[in-house]
Amino acid sequence: MKTTKLTAGKKAWITRRKNLNKVENLTPAQKAWVTRKKNTGKKVKVFEDNKACSGKEIVRMYLEKFTIESAEKFGIKRGIVPTLSATKCRMERILNQNEILRELKYIPIEMGLKNFRELGDNIKKEKWGFMQQPIHSKFFDVIKNFKEDSCAHVFADFCKTFITHEKDVITILAKNMVVVGGNIWITVSQRGCKGTYNKLKTLIKSFDNYEILDIPKAYAKYRDGGGMVSIVIRRVK
Ligand SMILES: C[S@@+](CC[C@H](N)C(=O)[O-])C[C@H]1O[C@@H](n2cnc3c(N)ncnc32)[C@H](O)[C@@H]1O
Repeated sequence: MKTTKLTAGKKAWITRRKNLNKVENLTPAQKAWVTRKKNTGKKVKVFEDNKACSGKEIVRMYLEKFTIESAEKFGIKRGIVPTLSATKCRMERILNQNEILRELKYIPIEMGLKNFRELGDNIKKEKWGFMQQPIHSKFFDVIKNFKEDSCAHVFADFCKTFITHEKDVITILAKNMVVVGGNIWITVSQRGCKGTYNKLKTLIKSFDNYEILDIPKAYAKYRDGGGMVSIVIRRVK
C-alpha cells in the first residue's frame, strides 16, 4: 500500500484546521471568518485592512470576549484605553461594534511619524468618535504619567521583544493603571528570545493582583512577521 508522507506545511495546515474547531463563543462575523478559514485553509482577507494571520485574528476575538466580560461582570463600560492602534483602528472598531462597549474612549499612542499621521487622518476622515487624536510619542513616555485606576483597559500590542518592553510592562502592572476588572493586552515578539512566553507569564505571576486570561497557547503564540506572543490579563484586586 502506498503511504503519503505529509510535508511540514501540510501538517501545520491540519493543525490550524483542528485548532479552529476549538474556538467558542464567536460572534456571527467571527464564525463566518472561521468557516471561510476552514474551507480554504488559506489566509483569508475578510476585512479591508486585515493583514493579520489567523493567530492574531483569534487573539483579537478573545480580547473582544474578555472586554465584553469586563463590562458585563465588572461594569467596565466606560473609561479610557491607552492603545497601540493599527492605522485603521481594526481592534478598536471591532470592540466599538458592541453596544455595551460604546462608551470606551481609546487614546492611540504612536511613535512612528508615518503611522501617526495616517492614523490621525483616518480618525478624522472616518469620524471615529471613539478614538482620540493620536499622541506622537513612545508608549512609555505617556503611560509613566498615568495614575492608579486611571484606565478601563490598556492595549499594549508591541512589535518588539520582551526585553525591549519589560519596563513598559512592569510600569503598567506596578502602577495598577487599570481598574479592578479591567484588562491589559500585552504582545511582544519572540524573535531571537527563547522562552518569551514563560518569561512574560513569570513576570505577571510575580504580581498577586492579576489573573492571566485563557487564550489557548496555539493562538497566544502566533506568526506575524516574527513570532509573536499575546497575553491578556485582568486586574482582580
Ligand atoms: C502591532 S501594531 C498595532 C496593531 C493593532 N493593535 C492591531 O490590533 O492591529 C503596533 C503599532 O504601535 C507602534 N508602536 C510599537 N511600539 C511602540 C511604542 N513603544 N511606543 C509607541 N508606538 C509603538 C508601531 O509603530 C505600530 O504602528
